[in-house]
Order: sequence, then structure tokens, then C-alpha cells
Amino acid sequence: MKPCLICSREVEPFISFGRMPIANGFLSADDFPGEYYFELQAGFCDRCKMVQLTELVDRERMFHDNYPFFSSTSTRMAMHFESFAHEVISRRIGGDDPFVVEIGSNDGIMLRHFVQSGIRHLGIEPSANVAAAAQDKGIRTICRFFDAELAEEIVAEHGQADAFLGANVMCHIPYLHSVLEGIEILLKPSGYVLFEDPYLADIITKTAYDQIYDEHALYFSLASVQYLFSRHGMEVVDVQPQNVHGGSMRYIIARRGAHPVTAAVRFLVEKEQAQGLDRRETFADFRIRVERSRDELLLLLRQIQKEGKGVAGYAATSKSTTVLNYCGITPDLLPYISDTTPLKQGRFSPGMHIPIRPYEEFKNHFPDYALLFGWNHAEEIMAKEEAFMAGGGKWILYVPEVYVQ
Ligand code: SAH
Ligand code: TMP
Ligand code: ZN
Repeated sequence: MKPCLICSREVEPFISFGRMPIANGFLSADDFPGEYYFELQAGFCDRCKMVQLTELVDRERMFHDNYPFFSSTSTRMAMHFESFAHEVISRRIGGDDPFVVEIGSNDGIMLRHFVQSGIRHLGIEPSANVAAAAQDKGIRTICRFFDAELAEEIVAEHGQADAFLGANVMCHIPYLHSVLEGIEILLKPSGYVLFEDPYLADIITKTAYDQIYDEHALYFSLASVQYLFSRHGMEVVDVQPQNVHGGSMRYIIARRGAHPVTAAVRFLVEKEQAQGLDRRETFADFRIRVERSRDELLLLLRQIQKEGKGVAGYAATSKSTTVLNYCGITPDLLPYISDTTPLKQGRFSPGMHIPIRPYEEFKNHFPDYALLFGWNHAEEIMAKEEAFMAGGGKWILYVPEVYVQ
């Protein structure tokens, strides 16, 4: 039992994936002996309703000067962040010389639109290599972890912010109270917080267990986000489901009473209760489905191997680390994974040590089957891979269940 990251009540894990390496810890053969492992387990807090990891990895192990995730690799996400930026510009900021802060701004995939519109902006990005990529594009970026202390410094230098933004980053931060204290300091009285992350209801209903890995310390529902922000004098005023990363939720938050609360918030509160996101049994059922998914995927890969067919992994996503290690998918079942990120190529996947090869390897020698670890980018990828499918190539997917297509 571990104290809840949000409300300190004891949290009991509802699922364990066993010994797990760092999801983005792609490594060279020399590094195998010293590879870091931790126990990947998720628990549900009965009081504040937050689903969370019960063992955490130090942030410096995950976010550093060699962080291999560059947001701009996906064109679909680039379009998504263009529309996110325009929602902020057209609906959430205004007046004279507005100022926008984004945490986890990575290579500047969203902030570049504020640069283009001449809006005062600041990115907070602790991973030095991706922060440098943003700086090279003329995007103002500080290479630090955001917390209350940094918020004080930002206000002293730039004044308070009209909008505080974050995408796929709040769920990475187990010390969220310090971030929220920072927001209290940083945000103008009428300012907005807009953040989005993979949505708990989508993870549970789609059995998307691969969203659970070291970097994702928290799995938000509206209920848990409401609890968290209410402890800092703020409230959720709107919610907008997003069709990215397998189902995300954007939460729009303001200081209590500053802006009206939309009907969408009230509807979603009721929907989550109907879905049982506030009950322990929902997570026990999820665990049973996850175990079944693991067994079926392994069975399928063994069958393909027996038939002497070729298979390759497609996209060495962070999520794939959970699947590979939890299912025990070894290089004899999956000889390589194709990925477009140069930093991952020539390295090995964490834990199972499957070689990561450049995309050209896949393109030049199509396998019979491709195990799609980038299932959240399925539309974009399948559109790109018509030749693979036309030649008889088949996709293996495991969300929402194991199937071949
Ligand atoms: N917003 C981008 C990147 C998400 S990856 C997108 O949606 O594609 C998460 C990013 O958050 C990483 O680049 C990581 O370095 C950064 N990060 C982690 N902890 C942080 C913190 N405390 N403050 C600001 N950024 C943080
Ligand atoms: P993500 O699912 O965590 O965003 O990881 C994306 C990874 O997938 C990244 O390493 C790049 C890789 N990728 C490809 O190899 N080909 C593609 O077409 C896409 C969209 C992603
Ligand atoms: Zn709690």
C-alpha cells in the first residue's frame, strides 16, 4: 500500500505488469548489464478517484538531454496542435499583449503557432535535446521542470499568464500539487488552464493497458481532475474529448467562479459514474481483460512463428515497452521494430532487447505481418502503408482486443 499522490490515502494496486524497464530507455548492447528496472503497478484511490502508479521512477531518469520522443514526428499531431493553438488564440486569450505558457512544450509543436501569430509565449521543457530543437526554431523555451518555484521566477520576469497549457505532460508529473501551486501563482485572475492527456475512460473501455508505463504516473478522469484542482481554488469549466492518442480529454480550468461551467462538465460527471470510473470493480474487470489480451497476443505470435511467416513491429512507441515486457515478446518472436526516429535506430528496445531498425528496412522488405505498436496513429500509418497492404501484408492490433486486419 502506498499513499495517494493526490490525497495521501492508502492506494492498493489493481494491476501489476511485473518488472519493467524505462519505456523510452532504448539502449545499446553495452548498456544491457546495467539496465534499470522497477515494478510497474497501477492503483486506484477510493477517495480522490485518481488512478496512479504505485512505484515511481526518478524524473531525471526519464527526462534528460537524450529524450528520444520528438512530438513533431507525427503529422497528425502537428495538425492537432495547430487547432489546439487556435482554440486558445480565438477563445481563451485576448486583450493587450497576452502571454501564454506551455509546459512539456517539447520541440515546439504547439508553440510555433503562437510565434507565428506574434503572441508572447514561453515553453518549459526539461529535456534538453528537444528543448534545443524548439529554441532552434525561434521558440522561447526554458530548459527546466515546471514547479511553484519556477512560476515565481516567470512572474517576476514576464508577469502573469493568460493561459497555461500542457499536452501529454500533466500525467507525467507525480508532484502535481507543486505544479498547481505554480499555476495559482502564474495565472491571471481570469486566465485559463487548458491541458489534455489520455483519458481514463478510453484506457479502460479499450483495454489500452499499454498507456500504463513509467512516464504516465497519473491517469485522469474528470472526477479526479475536479478533486485535484478544487484543492487549489480552481474548477473545471469545460471538457472536450479529443480523438488523439487513442482517446484524450482536454480539461479547461479557471479560478473558481471566474468563468461559467458548461453543461458538458455536468454530463461527463454523470457519464463517468455510469461507466463505473469511481468504483474499484471496474479496475478489477480491466485487469482480467488485460490478462486475456496478453495471452491472445502471445498465442498469435507463436502461431505466426510456427507457420514460418515473417513479422515486424511497427513504431517503437513508449507504449510498446509495456506490451513487450508484460507479454514476454522476445526477439525470436519479433525480430525487429521499424521506427522513423534516428535516435532509436540501431538501438534495442528496453527489457526485451529487440533491435530497432530504420523505417527503410520495413519499406524495402515488407514482412507478412506488422505488429502495430503505434495503434494510436493507425489512420495516418495505414494511409501511408497502402503498398504493404496491397502486397498482402496484414496488421496485428491489440486494442481494443487482439485481431488481424
Ligand atoms: N506536449 C508534447 C510532449 C509530450 S511528452 C506532446 O504532446 O507531444 C512530455 C514532455 O513533458 C517531455 O518532453 C518532458 O520532457 C516534459 N516534462 C516532463 N516533466 C515536466 C515538468 N515538470 N515540467 C515541464 N515539462 C515536463
Ligand atoms: P508515440 O505513440 O509514443 O507518440 O510514439 C511514436 C513513435 O512512433 C515514434 O518513435 C515514431 C514512430 N512512428 C513511426 O515509426 N512511423 C510513423 O509513421 C509514426 C506516425 C510514428
Ligand atoms: Zn487519492
